[in-house]
Amino acid sequence: MTPAWLAHFSLKDAPFSKEIGDADLWLPSSKTAVVEELVEALSQRASVSLVGEPGVGKTCVLRALRHRLSTGFRLTYCHNATLGRRDFYRQLCLALGLKPSATAAAVFFSVTTHIEELGHERLHPVFLLDEAHLLHQDVVDHLHILLNYQWDSRALLSLVLVGLPELEDRLSRRHHRSLYSRLHTRLRIEPLTPDDTAEYLRVRLHRVGCDRELFSTDAVAMLHEAASGAHRDIDRLATSALKEVARRKKKLVERDILARVLDAATEAA
Ligand SMILES: Nc1ncnc2c1ncn2[C@@H]1O[C@H](COP(=O)(O)OP(=O)(O)OP(=O)(O)O)[C@@H](O)[C@H]1O
Ligand SMILES: [Mg+2]
Repeated sequence: MTPAWLAHFSLKDAPFSKEIGDADLWLPSSKTAVVEELVEALSQRASVSLVGEPGVGKTCVLRALRHRLSTGFRLTYCHNATLGRRDFYRQLCLALGLKPSATAAAVFFSVTTHIEELGHERLHPVFLLDEAHLLHQDVVDHLHILLNYQWDSRALLSLVLVGLPELEDRLSRRHHRSLYSRLHTRLRIEPLTPDDTAEYLRVRLHRVGCDRELFSTDAVAMLHEAASGAHRDIDRLATSALKEVARRKKKLVERDILARVLDAATEAA
C-alpha cells in the first residue's frame, strides 16, 4: 500500500530513498569531474584516495564509476574496513572468488597469483576500499606491498581508498609515506552548493514523477544550511518535511514547517 504522504503528493515512490539505481544517480558537473578523474587514474593503473565529509556522496560516486567504466576492469568493493590483516586478505580472497587460505602469506600469494591471471585476461583489478579511515593499522602498513610488483615497475592492482577527511590526514603522516606517495590521484568531494541542493531536490522529485516545486526558496536555503550540503542529511530532513506537510494537508514545504522539522531533529539528536 502506498504510504499516505506519497499519495498526498502523488509520488510514485519515496523521493529521497537510498535505493537509487546506478544509472539514475544525479551527477552535476562537480561529481562528473570526480568520476572522470577516477576513470583516468584507473586507466593509467594508478591508485587513488577519495575523501569527503559523511553523506556527501562518496559511495554513490563509486557506484557512478562502476556504471561508467567500460570493459577491461574487475572491480572489487570492500566496505568492512575494521578487519585485521589476515582477515582482510581472506576477505579480499572471497571477494575475488578465491578459496581463502589459512595464513596471511598464503592468502597474499593466492591474491597475487589471481591478479596475475587477470592481467593475462587483460582485466585490470581495482580494489575499492570504502570507509578506509577505519582501516586497521596492520592493514594500512601492508597495503603499499600490493602496489609494488615486479620490482616496483608495475602495480598489481589499483587501490581506491575512500573515507572521511581524516583518512587523508592519516595517510599523509610520515609513517605511511610509502603508501601515500603511491596514491598519485588525491580527490575530495565537496559538500553541495546551495544551487546544487535546489537542483538535487528537483531531480530526485522528478524521478518519482513530480515536476512541481514542493519546497519554497526559503525552505531550500534553510535545508541546505542545516544539512551542510550533505546528501544524506538533505534526504532525511526533506523526507521529514514532506511528511509533516502531508500531515497538515498542505502542498508546499515553507519556512515555518521546515523550522519545526529542524527543531524536532535537533531535539531527537
Ligand atoms: N549522486 C547522487 N545522486 C543521487 N543521490 C545521491 C547521490 N549522492 C548521494 N546521494 C544520496 O545521499 C546518500 C548518501 O550518499 P553516500 O552514501 O554516497 O555518502 P558517503 O559520502 O559515502 O557517506 P559516508 O561517509 O557516511 O559513507 C545516498 O544514500 C543517496 O540517497
Ligand atoms: Mg559511504
